Amino acid sequence: MPVITNIDDLKRIYQRRVPRMFFDYAESGSWTEQTFRENSSDFEAIRLRQRVAVDMSGRSTTSQMIGQDVAMPVALAPVGLTGMQHADGEIKAARAARDFGVPFTLSTMSINSIEDVAEATGAPFWFQLYTMKDQDYVSRLIQRAKDAGCSALVITLDLQILGQRHKDLKNGLSAPPKLTPKTIANLATKWAWGIGMLGAKRREFGNIVGHVEGISDASSLGAWTNEQFDLTLDWAKIAKIKEQWGGKVILKGILDAEDARMALKVGADAIVVSNHGGRQLDGAISSIRALPEILEAVGDQIEVHLDSGIRSGQDVLKALAMGAKGVYIGRAFIYGLGAMGQPGVTRALEIIHRELDVTMALCGETSVQKLGRHNLLIPKDFRGKWEA
Ligand SMILES: Cc1cc2nc3c(=O)[nH]c(=O)nc-3n(C[C@H](O)[C@H](O)[C@H](O)COP(=O)(O)O)c2cc1C
Repeated sequence: MPVITNIDDLKRIYQRRVPRMFFDYAESGSWTEQTFRENSSDFEAIRLRQRVAVDMSGRSTTSQMIGQDVAMPVALAPVGLTGMQHADGEIKAARAARDFGVPFTLSTMSINSIEDVAEATGAPFWFQLYTMKDQDYVSRLIQRAKDAGCSALVITLDLQILGQRHKDLKNGLSAPPKLTPKTIANLATKWAWGIGMLGAKRREFGNIVGHVEGISDASSLGAWTNEQFDLTLDWAKIAKIKEQWGGKVILKGILDAEDARMALKVGADAIVVSNHGGRQLDGAISSIRALPEILEAVGDQIEVHLDSGIRSGQDVLKALAMGAKGVYIGRAFIYGLGAMGQPGVTRALEIIHRELDVTMALCGETSVQKLGRHNLLIPKDFRGKWEA
């Protein structure tokens, strides 16, 4: 077993173990992947202020996200088809998050269902909602999340229509994979994944199959999204969903200060500054770059979270010091899951936690809650100079 010291190590093992189709699905951004790349390069552009001779004993990474205690303010982002990256992937990731003390968010497009995860973890998790044309189905989905004891509803706003990721089309992405000569050849080299999958609780979209009538093909993410997602979603509908839910609501996919003000108006408990990990509007700015303007607009009135591009504890620290109250990791935990199942997700969380803690110490801070702009060196032109 190789010595795993960082998230990239997990990614290398992940790439060897998981079928090409699902690796490509996670590793892609939309179209030219400019936004996907800049999510990382913009984090790199920010530097840290090293401080010395500060008592660094008794450090703490604990904090709160939407009023919930967290071991560190890093939640697992909703990731569709997680159960295709590893057998029972959602259950395993949710258990790892529970044991670590960070929130887990279950995607609408998960393989394990809401009920599977609730039963297997016995702990509250967050549920991410995509809104569909079929209002009855959406109402039932919300009710199922309530019945399962989910402690927040994360409504994703940046995917009413799917951004094109070239490789998914070329690979014929589906769950379960369709057995073409190309996929069979690739699966033959991923036998451990295959054996795991034979024993998996589910291999189809668990929140959809058996819960919706008359769907032509739920196995293809692209086809299902095009057919079923609600193109008419607007702020009035979001307000209605919020009312129907009756609990904490997080609005995910905000990248613009005006939209952040709308989210505030609608009464959300938190927003996630996100470009969906560079998978939707290619050409949009990185989340970390969008954060300052959004914080200026609403930061003192609503909790602001961030995702997209976080691969290390240093990235987490940069986002928190910029002013985010919490962050989410998508691919970083998927690499761990695909590499080693539940222990791999735990390993990813441990790596990020350790990096965050040590970085914090070397910046002369003892608590994530005291991080601020004073810890950062931000390039003068970081926010960009755009025509009005
Ligand atoms: C493979 C994959 C599937 C995703 N599926 C969903 C989803 O079903 N719902 C959702 O709201 N976001 C989804 N996202 C976006 C993540 O929630 C999150 O915004 C993104 O992964 C953050 O960027 P990062 O991967 O660079 O951390 C997905 C991301 C990836 C990589």
